[in-house]
Amino acid sequence: TTQINIAIDGPAGAGKSTVAKLLAEKLQFVYIDTGAMYRALTWKAIDENIDVNNEQLLNELLKQTDIQLVNQSGVIGIKLNDQDVTETIRSARVTNHVSYVAKHSLIRKEMVAKQQKLAEQGGTVMDGRDIGTAVLPDADVKIFLTATVEERARRRHEEQLSKGMPSDFEQLKRDIAKRDQLDSEREIAPLKKAVDAIEIDSTSMTIEEVVEHIYAIVVERN
Ligand code: C5P
Repeated sequence: TTQINIAIDGPAGAGKSTVAKLLAEKLQFVYIDTGAMYRALTWKAIDENIDVNNEQLLNELLKQTDIQLVNQSGVIGIKLNDQDVTETIRSARVTNHVSYVAKHSLIRKEMVAKQQKLAEQGGTVMDGRDIGTAVLPDADVKIFLTATVEERARRRHEEQLSKGMPSDFEQLKRDIAKRDQLDSEREIAPLKKAVDAIEIDSTSMTIEEVVEHIYAIVVERN
């Protein structure tokens, strides 16, 4: 029997990856972090001094790059040409360049094909920006997870402070708003709620509440 696929889209910092990971565990599904794939290519481009606006060079780079999502005993990581880049792709430098890499059609075409292949057998929770609209338009459950910019910046701010990292709330707010704008206004597969997606505003919800809510939707639909 084939299992269902669950698509979770939404703006930066809405809690998609945390929610998707927990939901996948609960369902014993595979979690697929599509943002990590764009981040990995962005990290490599920065490392090789490739201009993020140069679509041809980025495409050449992507062809030479093997990107693997790895799930080693519950720890989800990402490998680029066998190098573990799980941590490095979360840097502010990568975060602030990734939307420029992700806007190119050649890059998206390749990434989307990879993502569709990963979901072929079903049993996945996939998060991103265009999963419900472009990658898995036939996904059985589609969620559009949002929260106010203030709340998303606040969460990121507290997360960084709790890790002992320096954090500037106003700067975070500006960076998140900018990334939302780039992702929503790009020409190809912009961030947008699929018509058949269920919108969940997580502004005043806990992670657990969001997971339970989506879990109930999945159970009810099947
Ligand atoms: O989800 P995350 O914040 O890691 O995504 C990083 C960036 O990758 C997004 O801001 C967006 O530019 C791009 N992305 C995308 N399509 C996806 C997932 C991510 O364009 N499906």
